[in-house]
Parts: sequence; C-alpha cells; structure tokens
Amino acid sequence: MTEFRPARLLPVLAGHGGRSAMTCQYRCGNACSHPAPNTTDNPYFGDIAGEVSRRGLLRAGALGALVVGAAGTIGATAGVEAAQAAPLAAPEAARATVPAGSGALTFKPIPPNTLDTVIVPNGYDHSVLLAWGDEVVPGAPAWRADRQSPAAQARQFGFNNDWLVTLPLDRRGRRALLVVNHEYTNENLMFPGFTTLDALTVEQIKIAMAAHGLSVVEVERVGDTGEWRPVDRGARRLNRRITASTRMRFTGPAAGSPLLRTAADPRGLTVRGSLNNCAGGLTPWGTVLSGEENFNQYFVGGDGVPADAKPALARYGIDTVNRYPSGSRKWERADERFDLTRNPNEANRFGWIVELDPYDPDSTPRKHTALGRFKHEGAEIILCKDGRVVAYMGDDERFDYLYKFISDKKMRRGDGPAERAHNMTLLESGTLYVAQFDATSASEIDGSGKLPADGAFNGAGRWIPLTRGNRSLVSGMTIDQVLVHTRLAADKVGATKMDRPEDVAPNPRTGKVYAALTNNTRRGAAGQPAADEVNPRANNKHGHILEITEGGGDNAAETFTWTIPIVCGDPADPSTFFAGYDKTKVSPISCPDNLDFDAHGNLWISTDGNALGSNDGLFAVPVEGPERGHVKQFLTVPPGAEQASAHIAPDNRTAFVSVQHPGEIDGASIDNPASTWPHGDFARPAVITVWRLDGRQIGA
Ligand code: FEO
Ligand code: CA
Ligand code: CA
Repeated sequence: MTEFRPARLLPVLAGHGGRSAMTCQYRCGNACSHPAPNTTDNPYFGDIAGEVSRRGLLRAGALGALVVGAAGTIGATAGVEAAQAAPLAAPEAARATVPAGSGALTFKPIPPNTLDTVIVPNGYDHSVLLAWGDEVVPGAPAWRADRQSPAAQARQFGFNNDWLVTLPLDRRGRRALLVVNHEYTNENLMFPGFTTLDALTVEQIKIAMAAHGLSVVEVERVGDTGEWRPVDRGARRLNRRITASTRMRFTGPAAGSPLLRTAADPRGLTVRGSLNNCAGGLTPWGTVLSGEENFNQYFVGGDGVPADAKPALARYGIDTVNRYPSGSRKWERADERFDLTRNPNEANRFGWIVELDPYDPDSTPRKHTALGRFKHEGAEIILCKDGRVVAYMGDDERFDYLYKFISDKKMRRGDGPAERAHNMTLLESGTLYVAQFDATSASEIDGSGKLPADGAFNGAGRWIPLTRGNRSLVSGMTIDQVLVHTRLAADKVGATKMDRPEDVAPNPRTGKVYAALTNNTRRGAAGQPAADEVNPRANNKHGHILEITEGGGDNAAETFTWTIPIVCGDPADPSTFFAGYDKTKVSPISCPDNLDFDAHGNLWISTDGNALGSNDGLFAVPVEGPERGHVKQFLTVPPGAEQASAHIAPDNRTAFVSVQHPGEIDGASIDNPASTWPHGDFARPAVITVWRLDGRQIGA
C-alpha cells in the first residue's frame, strides 16, 4: 500500500455534467476546441453515380433476422499448449451456448447520482479486480505514488483502462484471460507535485508511455460466485504488458509502403508501440483486436513536414501550423520519433487496428493495414453466411464515418494449429467499405428531433467499397494511399458524416448491427453540416443509437436498411425516443459510447460524458420484442469517470466493467483529488466485476 497521501479532497460540485476540460486535453488533445478535421463537402447520397443498383436497395428493405450459430470452435493451439496444459473452450462457442432463462431484464434500475463510488442495483455486489499500478507481470514491484519508474510501470497495470474482454482458460468457466486496453494517461492524476506537462521529467514521460497499451492478466472465479480476482500465484506465463514501445509489425497491402517508412524502419514493416487504445473486439479464433484512436495528440512538429504531406496529416487532426498544438504531450522530449519535423511518416504508423494473440505471450502484435487507418474506436467481428468475417468499425470524430471490412478468405472451423494459423491471416486482405445513408423523411428533418410522419428516423444505405482484392477502388489513389489516408478516400466517395461513431457492434443473436453515435454539438452550427435523418438533432448533446439491418440478413451485404431505436437524453425531453416505449419508464441516458450484448441479445450501453448532471454509467436495453427501448440504468461510476466498457461474461453471471478516469475534474490532481475511489486515498482507474448475490444471471 502506498505511503503517499493526498493533501486534501477537491470539493466536487454536485451536478457537474459533460466532459471536463482536463478530459478533453488528455483524452483527445483538445479535439473539441479545434475545428472538426472533416471539411469536405461530400456529395449527397442521391447525387452519387455509383454502381449500387436500385434493385439492391429495394432488396435491402425486406429482411429476415439472421440467427447466428456457434461460430467455430477454438481450442488448444500451439501457443496455448506451450503455456497451458488445459484445453480451451471457444470464446464464441461459449457465448453461443446461451444460459437458460428468458433474457428479460427485471433488475430495478438505479437512479442518476453524483456519489463518489460505484452504485449497483439491490441484490448485486461489486469488487475491484485490477487498478492502476497493480501487478501484471509476476514480480512487478508494489506500486507507490512516490516510487514510480518506467520499468515498474511496464510490468504493472496501465493507466486509464478502457475496453476489456475475457477469453477462457478452461472449460469449466473458472479461469480466464482478461485483456484490457489502456487508452491514455493523465499526468495531473499520476504524479505527486505535478505542475505542467512541460515540467515533466523525461523519466515521467517514459512512465506515461509505459502506462499506455494493453494488459493481459490471468483471472479466476471466486468460489462459485460471479466475482473474479487476479491469479496471484504460479508462473502466470500469459500475463503481459503491451506499451507504447512494444515491437509490432504491419500486415496487409500497405505494409512496406513508402508512407510507413522511417529512418528507424526503412522497410516500413515494423513499428514500436500502440497508442490511445480505445475499444476493440474479440475474434472467433481467440485473438483480440484493439483500436488506436486519438493518436494525433502524441505528435508535434507538424509545421515542419513537407508541404505535400500536410493535408493528410491535417485530415487526421494533426496541427500543421503550430509546432506545439494545445494539449500536446511533448513525448518528443523522450523519443524523437514523436517529432514529425524529424520523422514525417511516424504518425502514419498509428491509427490502426491491432491484433493481439493473448494465448501466446511471445507473439508480435500486428497492425492490419487492410482495415484502414482512422481514429479507430474498435472493431467487432461477426461471420458472413459464407464464412468470411466482417469487422464493423467507427471513426470517432465529429462528422466522420462508419466502416466495415470483409475478409477475402473464409474462417476455418476447428481448433487445431493449422486452422488457427489460417484464421490469424483473415484480417490481412479483404474489402474495406464506408457507409452512406439515405433517408425516408429528409424534408421533415428540422434538427429538433421531432419524429417524422412515418414514425421513424430510418432509411436505406449502402456500403461503398474503397478497396477490393487489395486493389484501390478510389480514383486517383493507390491502395496504400487509400489504407493510410482512409479518411481522404472516404471523403472522395461521398460517405455520410456522422455524429462521432464510437462502438459498432453486431448483435450475435440477430446479426443486426448497432452503432453508438456519442454526440456532436457542432451538428447544425453555422458553417457545419445540418441535421439529417440519420443524425437528426442539431446541437446533439446526448447522442443516439443506430441499428443497421444488412441486406438479406447477411453481414456480407453491400446494402442495408437502418433505423434509430434510441435518441438519448432525459426522457422528459421531447427530442428523445426510446423505440416508442413508455418514456415514463426509461432511465435518462446521455452519450452512449461502448456497446456489448449479453447471452440473450440484450444491448448493454456504457456512457462517456453524461451531459445530464449525473455520473456516467452502464445501461441495459432489450432490442427485440415488446420491451425494445426499455432502457434501464444498471450502474454508475464515480464523478469525473467514464463508464468506458462493459463485458458481459458468456455465462451471464458477471459484468466486467472498466471505470476510466475517475476524478478527472478540472483542478484535480493526485495531491488534490476530486475522487478517492477505489481505495479511499486518491482516484485510480480500475476494472471491477459486478455479480448477483444469489448467483443468478445479471440483469435477469
Ligand atoms: Fe476513446 Fe471514442 O472513445
Ligand atoms: Ca423516416
Ligand atoms: Ca470509447
């Protein structure tokens, strides 16, 4: 336990809402204070002369639900056998084995609040599984606020845990691997005596770099409950930290591209580290995907790059005028590759989807160029009818786009080393699409959120291919240009500008796809795109949920229909919509971010930046049947925190929940904290487990 004690607790004003200026600075490099980087004037859907057929659009209108079966089996692999004697259950197969029960969400919702703790419903309990600084690699030094070092942090649980998932280590559901992203650091909340980023020592910058990345941790069930704890004995060979310095390699059509070459990597094939790992996805072959999101903020010196490189950097939010943009982290003081004047291509080496094999502790993580480069929120996978895999992805920026990728090759079922080796190549080649949305009630959209006469914000749409068979389909751009400068390629084909697409998740029980559009207060502002049917509110403070039904019920389709089941906010606000459900019975919800599904297909929504005055939280809502739209709040996190991610375990008995940046409130520091969660001294990001005291399924 640390000897450091904070000087005093910062008074927290009840009713703070939205995101603090501190969060803006550290999380996204003050993106909100900069103009949105998408300044293109995309043509409207109806003006595009594309190859989509009218027939295809019509076909997309009549859909049947796709029930997705067990998605292959993952078992012992070479890497797993080396590390673990026990064979593995398949992650997706385990999920597909739905526990008995109706799936009805009968828990009593909790009220909005600003308490400095985690609140769960009556009959539930929670405990801290891992907090910043806890041991990950066996033998890591005990964390102390005044004894931090880069070497220690590289073996300890990183800062600001974001998306997480578990993968089984046995068939009895007693042991698992927990994989967690560490999105960003907040130096105010990490270092006693902090004054400014400029005053950080190089040692402290290196600690921050080591606190980024991912953690892989063996965890075990406590007794027969839904509670989990880290395994604290034995070799724990699979425990691993990935940091901003871990060696990775590029795959796919842009690997080796001149756009990825640097002095340190003249072949453009390897890169050190992963940055701003936000959300992710679990593959059916037992690997984990992690999205590199706000990577722009780590770079300075954009003013000194060659003139012809500036437009593409600017499109990704990199300042090409000022050497030190506001909010920049000054990492170039510790590693000159973050100075673009010296290394103009280094920023091109971030903004990818990274695939990590957590069952092989010696594996090299891979950045898959075939999935394009943008501010990747995450990538969630489902199988097409023919066995190819689809990854759905959001580019989390105001007025940016929704994407999907379809592999060229089909997934091989079976759990042998040959099958797994094949499946590990699936994300290396395929077709990358961007979404374009059409409307049914365009003339009625006035930005107020008023429902059109046809009773729905809805329409059809199509997936516009940017690449196919590793060839560019965008005129004037080579394949590596399309993949490295994906935003520019999508601009050219008329993609639809969205209100910050975050998590995009297929429902494994129906195949329908759900996207969290977090918010966009610039929507409808002077000089900015107006509200449209798929982003129907001007000054969209609270966000909405989009539902996409793929043509023919096949996730391989190139056309779809869509509707907005949930327009978030206070249900008393007439601009909100909850699929027509009785608004007096739904919980207020603001800024949906991460999405997960339980074993019954209920949608679980994590929020980031509640603009209604309550702490952020976790909500559950059925998306099928008579309860569709009945949003209920399940949990709240402490003040200043984001409910970054929730993973409902395949047996539905545990919610693994990521509590990110507690106490991140303007004026707070580790000396002067705004939250003392979780251990009563100062705020630490942490992963918790939530379970039912009677041992039954959560939510039910
Ligand atoms: Fe890292 Fe889009 O939130
Ligand atoms: Ca409509
Ligand atoms: Ca997020």
